[in-house]
Amino acid sequence: MTEYEMTARLGTVISTDKGPNVLEFSFVLEGGPKEIIARRGEFVSVVTDNGIVIARVQDLLRTNRYYQHAEAVREYQSRGEPLRAIFPTDRWQYTIAKTRVLGLWVENRTARPYFAVSPGAVVRRIDEDTLSAFLKLDNKEGLHLGNLAYHNLEFTPSINRLLSKHLAILAMSGAGKSYFISVLLEEIISRKKEQGRLSVVVVDVHGEYTYLKDIKPKDLGLSDNEFQVEHIRASHIQIPVQSLAAETISSLVADMSSIQVRDLRRVISEMRGTMKDGYTLADIVTHVRENETISKNTREALIGWLINLDDTRLFGKSSVPDVKSIVKPGKITLIDLSDFISLKKKQIVVAHLASELLYLRRRNEIPPVLLILEEAHQFCPESRHELALPKSRIETIAREGRKFHALLCLISQRPVKLSTTVLSQCSNQAILRCTNPYDLEHIGRSSEGIDRSSLDAITTLEIGEALFVGETVSVPTFVKIRQRKYEPDGLALSLTEAVKKADK
Ligand SMILES: Nc1ncnc2c1ncn2[C@@H]1O[C@H](COP(=O)(O)OP(=O)(O)OP(=O)(O)O)[C@@H](O)[C@H]1O
Ligand SMILES: [Mg+2]
Repeated sequence: MTEYEMTARLGTVISTDKGPNVLEFSFVLEGGPKEIIARRGEFVSVVTDNGIVIARVQDLLRTNRYYQHAEAVREYQSRGEPLRAIFPTDRWQYTIAKTRVLGLWVENRTARPYFAVSPGAVVRRIDEDTLSAFLKLDNKEGLHLGNLAYHNLEFTPSINRLLSKHLAILAMSGAGKSYFISVLLEEIISRKKEQGRLSVVVVDVHGEYTYLKDIKPKDLGLSDNEFQVEHIRASHIQIPVQSLAAETISSLVADMSSIQVRDLRRVISEMRGTMKDGYTLADIVTHVRENETISKNTREALIGWLINLDDTRLFGKSSVPDVKSIVKPGKITLIDLSDFISLKKKQIVVAHLASELLYLRRRNEIPPVLLILEEAHQFCPESRHELALPKSRIETIAREGRKFHALLCLISQRPVKLSTTVLSQCSNQAILRCTNPYDLEHIGRSSEGIDRSSLDAITTLEIGEALFVGETVSVPTFVKIRQRKYEPDGLALSLTEAVKKADK
């Protein structure tokens, strides 16, 4: 007997109207009538001469002959004598597990299933090494993000599989998206140079990740110089005015006419020629004011817009911080937008960052970079009515970035509101608990790998449980995200705690 054949038996394949066929089979569970030895969602296996058939339990059905006839049940009910008092009903209860075949494992490789298992075949628990290899996990160099539901197996996707083709994290509020990001960042930051270190820029809308900079490197098993987290407040960011074309300025203010854009373009191109050291918005205002060739109305309108833009205090002569200096291998840079109330200001910063990252990465002036964007629907919404400056840049990264390793990780609690162009470019999705039917339908439509039964299971996920679909794993997989190694101080208070604290 091989080691595999000794793995625990779960049951025996039965012959039904529908199967076994290539994609489905059912089996009767072993064990006592009330024992639960296989659970919905669990992976199981059938060893055959042509390889190991790997399947997943889709549903469990309990039957009992004694209770098949409603009339008989009713009869004993009215007599006041439960059936089980008279007959050995328990002995006749058994469970049928319905499974869906996921693949065939032959000579350490996946093959497409091409035959049906035989009725009478033994169904076994899957052995963890086979499952890990089948799912394409990497238990040496992979990122340890959690554990597989129902199996004693760490979920360790490789960085290539998880991140190289953009990742979307979708779930309702409070489901554990940001917590998952913290775990992901812990894993990325703990990587050694020889494993390959990614640089990460996090757009931290609520300032939730600031605590990362307080981690003591040794808590993550790192030396002081291996640990690099930089926290940048958005209010300290300065976007160089020189980088703004007339069209960009026009997209920052609504309703600029094409004639006005053309006049502004002329002014800017003159200034670019003469003011090599950079200039401010106030300088443009002066030039517009002095330019007699522009009509008085246009001048006034342009000046008004430019002054408004200057009031955001986001623009200056030079770029602060220098994007080249914040994107370094193994470094995490937190762009903390929590100071800003205005959505427009947040959008301006994200648009600037996205275009800089794309531009510099294209020219290979910065290392491969992952841009993590919380509240992604605010920056690349589906709706055309919502003005969103960064949308076109993010869509460009989504479409073209993977070729030169400018990668996206988008997080959203309203998938319906997120641009479908962007969502469909995310080859990987981690979906946590989500109960809104519109969002679920949208997720189902935008993600190819997801079947009806997985979609239904999303509503039943607990906080911190995720379904991974796409290239990360070979088949959709449910994962319990692990605990953080490092907990921020002053965790969010519950309502009662906050009320008590305020009432002291
Ligand atoms: N994997 C996990 N293990 C333990 N606790 C978790 C896990 N995931 C989430 N939680 C708990 O749930 C809380 C909410 O999670 P989180 O802040 O990540 O939600 P979210 O999806 O980002 O919500 P929002 O959309 O409102 O930002 C966390 O503060 C934490 O207490
Ligand atoms: Mg969050």
